[in-house]
Amino acid sequence: MSEADAQKKAAGAAAAALVESGMVVGLGTGSTAAWFVRALGERGLDVTCVATSLATEELATSVGLKVAQLGETREIDLTVDGADEVGPGLALIKGGGAALLREKLVWEASRRCVVIADAGKVVKTLGRYPLPIEVVAFGHKTIAARICDVLAEFEIGMAPRLRAKDGQPVRTDGGNLIYDAACGRIEEPASLAAALKSITGVVDHGLFLDLAEQALIGAPDGVTTLEP
Ligand code: 5RP
Repeated sequence: MSEADAQKKAAGAAAAALVESGMVVGLGTGSTAAWFVRALGERGLDVTCVATSLATEELATSVGLKVAQLGETREIDLTVDGADEVGPGLALIKGGGAALLREKLVWEASRRCVVIADAGKVVKTLGRYPLPIEVVAFGHKTIAARICDVLAEFEIGMAPRLRAKDGQPVRTDGGNLIYDAACGRIEEPASLAAALKSITGVVDHGLFLDLAEQALIGAPDGVTTLEP
């Protein structure tokens, strides 16, 4: 196992220790969240889970967790999820796994959100990781042009790139497309988030601001806790 994977696993296990029987738990998406899901399954608690993707739902079921759909449970007590970047104030970039919309819906429906990551994800300024932006498929090239205009207002010159795999556009669980915007540095995350959200056809973006209450960061010598 690589050092980064060991850190992800340790962070996932530390987060699983926060869960108590009777809780409703939001399950993130990605390789770090998968460690959390496995560790939670091993604890054998009586919990109800809400998954942020079909892949996570499948994993959760396979490790014996009870899964319900968003809106079918009482309020979610705790959501644990990974991130692509963890910036100052626990501002995050998410969506590398194309699950950002369902993730944000579940995060926003949660009383408490904890982000888990390896130490390599912690940054001083967001933007080194390309910002995922989910758009509807209809007219997506026109939407991308408008995203370009908005990015230019923030002095971000690179055109967003349509995410593709094996020569085909990646579809999210909701059937949408993802554009990745190589921002370099995001100096004003809140303003950029609002501007992107105002574009018709943009479903959501991967800036998760003022949502994470705590970060559990794997490190070579254990797990560190960060607060906003
Ligand atoms: C999925 C996400 C993931 O949490 C993010 O991409 C981190 O993934 P990993 O834990 O595999 O590094 O936002 O949409």
